[in-house]
Amino acid sequence: MNAPHVGIDAIALSVPRGYVDLAELAEARGVPPEKYLNGIGTRRMAIAGPDEDPVTLAVNAARRLFERSGASPADIGLCIVGTETAVDHSKPVAAFLHGLLGLPRACRVFEAKHACFGGTAGLLNAVDWIAAGSARGRAALVVCTDVARYPLGSSGEPTQGAGAVAMLVRQDPRLLGLEVGRTGAFARDVHDFWRPLHHKEALVDGHFSVQCYLDALAGAYDEWRRVGGEEGAPLARTCYHVPYGKMARKAHRHRRMMDGWTEQAADESFAVEVASSLVLPAQIGNVYTGSLYLALASLLDAEAKAIAGRRIGLFSYGSGCCAEFFAGTVKPEAAALVAQLEIAAPLADCERICVADYERLRAEDALTDRRPAPGSASARQTLEGRRAVYLGVDANERRVYADA
Ligand SMILES: CC(C)(COP(=O)(O)OP(=O)(O)OC[C@H]1O[C@@H](n2cnc3c(N)ncnc32)[C@H](O)[C@@H]1OP(=O)(O)O)[C@@H](O)C(=O)NCCC(=O)NCCS
Repeated sequence: MNAPHVGIDAIALSVPRGYVDLAELAEARGVPPEKYLNGIGTRRMAIAGPDEDPVTLAVNAARRLFERSGASPADIGLCIVGTETAVDHSKPVAAFLHGLLGLPRACRVFEAKHACFGGTAGLLNAVDWIAAGSARGRAALVVCTDVARYPLGSSGEPTQGAGAVAMLVRQDPRLLGLEVGRTGAFARDVHDFWRPLHHKEALVDGHFSVQCYLDALAGAYDEWRRVGGEEGAPLARTCYHVPYGKMARKAHRHRRMMDGWTEQAADESFAVEVASSLVLPAQIGNVYTGSLYLALASLLDAEAKAIAGRRIGLFSYGSGCCAEFFAGTVKPEAAALVAQLEIAAPLADCERICVADYERLRAEDALTDRRPAPGSASARQTLEGRRAVYLGVDANERRVYADA
């Protein structure tokens, strides 16, 4: 394929400080722990505190990206934030990010929404922006940031999580070269998961959403094969959208059976082709827009050296729904860069919170939008090398951020 060489140059994560252990949550809900640990396939879910929101998670991930990759905010000409946890109906998270990171004035910034597909919408638009020549040597910053919330005690509760994944997208990338123009998209108008404007928690038709995901995977994968996706080397690994680990397992079986494999052969290939991409998602939970890229980060963190030069598949699904299947090749220099990026390091700072404290946080959280910020024009300064926190809103309901 004679296409420009564009892809993901670097990747970084940020997670909230607190997490709930799912064995403890199962006990509190009177559910056998094996259901959450094996049936759902998650061990912990990250919980955002009152001073953590999609903006602070995005800023902290992007700062880490710059610090670790050697790139500079001055390199950025496009900043897209994928989120389904918007903090304002009008002002995008990307605008807050632009200010808090000190991105250049000559920069296109916007927020992309389509449930969990928003991050992929951002990534593939950034790739096309570079391939079209609009970047003129600049890079794109794509950040996926979300807080996944379902009602307490609901069947969706163990599939919550929170976090952000920041990606630097540029020509001649050091991590993953993407196949420009060779993607399989699929869309359908369905009500599998939605969040009305006045709701802080998602509404979901859970089992229907699983079927919609699998139907969309079939449609996107078929389209990818139709546009020549299977030409070239076979896919050594595939990362799927991971609302919870078991969903990726179901997806892999579904896709491999579309290839004519038996169910047994499909399941046997899971350990090699998918398992390493689920290590970090099992520690954080669902991060919605970022979950495919958390899976990619997990794969690279575990296996960048082993899969250098190999082709991998990526599948993104956003309820509602839109999905896309695409592929890329892991760069030979990826392993050295992954060591420098220390992708999983932010997890080391996390602290377990008990179920009672998590429930208290949720009860208080209903009020956070109206929490008055301590009066401080100076709070909103340039934030370098420190952790951004959300303080609350001022008298005109403007959100105020500072450094902890
Ligand atoms: C995913 C979801 C529908 C599961 O809901 P649920 O009705 O409580 O769970 P189920 O009864 O289907 O059980 C989940 C799994 O645990 C398994 N399980 C149940 N009890 C178990 C036990 N004691 N030990 C081991 N596994 C157990 C079930 O067999 C099932 O596995 P399977 O899907 O392979 O059959 C729910 O968590 C949800 O709505 N999540 C949010 C939406 C979402 O993430 N959708 C994904 C597509 S985007």
